[in-house]
Amino acid sequence: MTEKVIPLADHRYLQTVPAIPVTLEAPTGLLGDTLGRPLHDLRISVTDRCNFRCVYCMPKEVFDKDYAFLPQTSLLSFEEITRIARLFVAHGVEKIRLTGGEPLLRKHIEKLIEMLASITTQSGKPLDLTLTTNGSLLARKAQSLKDAGLKRVTVSLDALDESIFQRMNDVDFPVSDVLEGLDAAHAVGLGPIKVNMVVKAGMNDGQIVPMARHFKGSPFILRFIEYMDVGASNGWKMDEVISSAEVVRQIDEAMPLEAIAANYTGETAQRWRYRDGGGEVGMISSVTHAFCGDCSRARLSTEGKLYTCLFATSGHDLRALMRAGRTDAEISTAVAHLWRARTDRYSELRSINTDGLSQPRPKVEMSYIGG
Ligand code: GTP
Ligand code: 5AD
Ligand code: SF4
Ligand code: SF4
Repeated sequence: MTEKVIPLADHRYLQTVPAIPVTLEAPTGLLGDTLGRPLHDLRISVTDRCNFRCVYCMPKEVFDKDYAFLPQTSLLSFEEITRIARLFVAHGVEKIRLTGGEPLLRKHIEKLIEMLASITTQSGKPLDLTLTTNGSLLARKAQSLKDAGLKRVTVSLDALDESIFQRMNDVDFPVSDVLEGLDAAHAVGLGPIKVNMVVKAGMNDGQIVPMARHFKGSPFILRFIEYMDVGASNGWKMDEVISSAEVVRQIDEAMPLEAIAANYTGETAQRWRYRDGGGEVGMISSVTHAFCGDCSRARLSTEGKLYTCLFATSGHDLRALMRAGRTDAEISTAVAHLWRARTDRYSELRSINTDGLSQPRPKVEMSYIGG
């Protein structure tokens, strides 16, 4: 007889099992937190693994061969993810983003996409179902993702210069494969496609204008992201951040820009367009211009903990509720209570008090919680 191994719970991150309120309530789709922010966007991390070792996210020294990634049994199953997604949609979520780690590494991800694509929003519309990827497997998977019902993708790309890109991803992955992935995604209609570039001083800041030039007039919307103090591994320092203001200044000098209005309330990026009609670029200023005021994003970690902020120190264990046989009404009511009690606005507080809040504290990794 083979012995059944029951894995211990992962205790790396603080966690709490939510209390089930005594009075159960039906979802109204109109939840608001303590700052009046609705619950609109659910980001689901489907794996904590990645085939890249980006210096700002999964530095090799920490995520090495001895790093303990989550065992398969810890991951939420597709059924569990879909169940949680349905409960969140009933609370008003209209956008679901699959992240990781690298979500395309999760086996049979197309099956999960198919399951999520069948969910409709409170107003009966299809979900805005999207995925963030490093692009390495995209050329191969674009068609099957589209066929499964994915609406669009966002692709990370930090440089066009081969040696700079390889220094950023730290696994010698070539730029050309990501560009092929982008073209494949465009060809099958996974748009609008955004390209996210994290700018880290001294690494890829020389690539700001070349990247802007490359994507100007293309079908892809390039967005520049300020390097954030997320997680506990990247050794973040304020002087490695290039502000969006500086990025705009550099691009504007070469190719004049003008500001344009946001697409929707709570959009992470400030939008700019080329005055000559060459399309738009976005600036995600998480450090210099926090956007917590409209933050309607919840995150579900790889093992089913709900995080109400990217910088949260602990998550609420929804997997424990599901695996303890709790009903939909019980879990849904617990989620409503958690969202109503939400006070998070980490980035805003950090801007007010840079020194105080950048002190080390047990923050979760972005690869675990989902970017
Ligand atoms: P769209 O639906 O296309 O507007 O995407 P999005 O901008 O909401 O999501 P995306 O994953 O493309 O976000 C881009 C980057 O913005 C992330 O990788 C993070 O670096 C940053 N970001 C996204 N959400 C948050 C957030 O809630 N807080 C902070 N501080 N940064 C965030
Ligand atoms: N700062 C800003 N963005 C980050 N990401 C990961 N780590 C960081 C960080 N330290 C985001 C990037 C990347 C996505 C997967 O996660 O946008 O493209
Ligand atoms: Fe992987 Fe994306 Fe993190 Fe890079 S940023 S290590 S591609 S999850
Ligand atoms: Fe939202 Fe937290 Fe990011 Fe602020 S820091 S935008 S509250 S996830």
